[in-house]
Amino acid sequence: MAFALPSDREDELVEILTHYPEKRAACLPALWLCQKVNGWISPDVIAYVAERLELTTAQVKGVVTFYTMFFEEPVAPNVVWVCRTLSCDLRGGKTVQEHLEQRFGCHAGQTSSDGRFTLLKAECLAACGQAPMVQINDDYHENLTLEKLDSIIDDYAARTPATEA
Ligand code: FES
Repeated sequence: MAFALPSDREDELVEILTHYPEKRAACLPALWLCQKVNGWISPDVIAYVAERLELTTAQVKGVVTFYTMFFEEPVAPNVVWVCRTLSCDLRGGKTVQEHLEQRFGCHAGQTSSDGRFTLLKAECLAACGQAPMVQINDDYHENLTLEKLDSIIDDYAARTPATEA
């Protein structure tokens, strides 16, 4: 089924477009808005953004594949980004990743069997002084211990109904 923004979000897109001299310049915020609505950037979303911004689908796809913040496959309601760059790795980033893989029953790049979490690896998330850290959805969780991490994950899990991955 073709993607289209609901009317309130359509108004938001129209407002976004007023901030740019050319429609094409709004590609990032337009994609971000569509991802918020759809959960990921499906081929239908790419076609929609291309049509609205008078771009080719190849041009939109090029933007989507360049930025890791755009999901090219469906993700769980909670996306956990584990920072695996040097400062975090020196302070246990690999252990954090392995702990989450064990807890979720999946590898990085996959979704937990209960459908609550997608686990992804990230390059430096600019919180090196608070390493090790993870980003969950829009929130940073820093100076992690495995106990603290488990408690944080418990909170997200309690707020998210299980679904089949
Ligand atoms: S290395 Fe992890 S936030 Fe910079």
